[in-house]
Amino acid sequence: MDKNFYITTPIYYPSGNPHMGHAYSSIIADIFARFKRLEGYNVLFLTGTDEHGLKIQREAEKNKKDPKLFCDELSKKFKDLTKILNLTNDDFIRTTEKRHYKSVEEIWNRLVESGDIYLDKYTGWYSVSDEAYYDEDEIEEVNGKKISKTSGSTVDWVEEESYFFKLSSWSEKLLKYYKDNKDFILPLSRKNEVVNFVKKGLKDLSVSRTSFSWGVPVPKNKKHVIYVWLDALTNYISALNFPNIKDENYKRFWPANIHIIGKDILRFHAIYWPAFLLAAKLPPPKKVFGHGWILSDDRKMSKSLGNILDPIEIVKSYGIDQLRYYLVKEVSLGNDGSISMDNLKNCINNDLANNYGNLCQRVFSFIKKNCSNKIPNAKNFNDLDNRLLNQLKNNIPNLIKLMNNQNLNEFIKLVVSYSFDGNKYFNDMEPWTVKKDDPERMKVILFTICEQIKNISILLNSIIPKATERVLETMNVKQKNISINQINNLECFDHDKELKELDILFNKIENDN
Ligand code: MSP
Repeated sequence: MDKNFYITTPIYYPSGNPHMGHAYSSIIADIFARFKRLEGYNVLFLTGTDEHGLKIQREAEKNKKDPKLFCDELSKKFKDLTKILNLTNDDFIRTTEKRHYKSVEEIWNRLVESGDIYLDKYTGWYSVSDEAYYDEDEIEEVNGKKISKTSGSTVDWVEEESYFFKLSSWSEKLLKYYKDNKDFILPLSRKNEVVNFVKKGLKDLSVSRTSFSWGVPVPKNKKHVIYVWLDALTNYISALNFPNIKDENYKRFWPANIHIIGKDILRFHAIYWPAFLLAAKLPPPKKVFGHGWILSDDRKMSKSLGNILDPIEIVKSYGIDQLRYYLVKEVSLGNDGSISMDNLKNCINNDLANNYGNLCQRVFSFIKKNCSNKIPNAKNFNDLDNRLLNQLKNNIPNLIKLMNNQNLNEFIKLVVSYSFDGNKYFNDMEPWTVKKDDPERMKVILFTICEQIKNISILLNSIIPKATERVLETMNVKQKNISINQINNLECFDHDKELKELDILFNKIENDN
């Protein structure tokens, strides 16, 4: 079987500095990408920036910059963030790249050819901030201003010549697609929202604009630029060298296994995108997962609301593994979740410093003092040793399933409980007591607990890669290809080699008050 796996983040608007919401989508995608690699998949992980449209053009004008130069500067910040967040993306796409233009033009031509595009006039509401069209019943008036009911952003009245995509003719086919592909939209609660929306019947969609120029020109009618969402969504195949569908990357990775997105852009990914693709005679992606929002002061964190937490500052102060772990432990994936500095500190102290960090540190320092700093070899496991190891081992299929179903929270809960069990086992077995009278027993205990640490480290590797790689390196576990198969493989240690030095894994955070 071909074990290929293609995962993407949304491509971000480089209209301002990246914030925690952007970091969140990227970290989640990175965790799944890393885990698939642990499972032995050949993974392609894509992220990037979405650089066209009126929103970017206006922001560039505000800053008195040419839009391309403006995007160059801000896109670089998003690219730099991939390093700061320790992302393993294989590619970073910008919609201002040539490879992307070629791909968007081909999609457009295919839609024209299939008879899905016609010229007319758009008259209605448009939100520049969301780059979205809204119907009358989707907006409301607050303080004399018309705003979108869902996003709260201002809408403007637009009347201009526009090309339309015959979305109305795709409702039934989309509903059939959702029915035949049960996992296409996740979580399920969001699927219902989409299905109900489509059931009401879809209207044709305006897919070009004439009142500004910052975009991909419509082939054969340069007065129009292609609607930024048709442009942006295509990035997922531009990166696979579409339109060259004979290209190795396209053949291996399309349809994508999963698009990770925020719930705010589900409609674009679960309705427009599969409709465009089906009309262009291309297969839609296999799964679209819409996660919830990161809230700050109980509101969606966003530039326009001015309630932004800067991921770079948090990484500087607390560390990247700490931020990655906190975001996925505290926010239930799929739901909205508030984050706060107090919770972050508690999470670092309780789960990382006191639990996993403490387990590693105390075991390694005991081995250093009592076993010439080498993990002893041992065979005669008793029931208690087997119970500890088997509990984790027997749950591996379930843990893999949890990750593949994007049930990150349950996954973490289980792994944290194994770390807790490891600490308890170490306390209960009291190797410090048996070392004099039964050194062989002490060796079995140490081998068992090192096995447990190794297994937990592999499981946590996709979430806290830096710390777990340090631990595995300390234990001289082969580094190149950490793999799920090393779990409960009793041959991973070199018993003649001394443990490497391990500085404190996670510093405890003192509370300011
Ligand atoms: N450019 C479009 C996406 C095109 S994808 C073909 C876009 N960009 S964005 O920069 O506004 O935001 C993209 C994504 O960032 C959201 O869908 C979401 O995944 C993430 N987040 C932005 N703010 C967020 C929160 N406050 N909380 C969690 N994630 C949010 O939309």
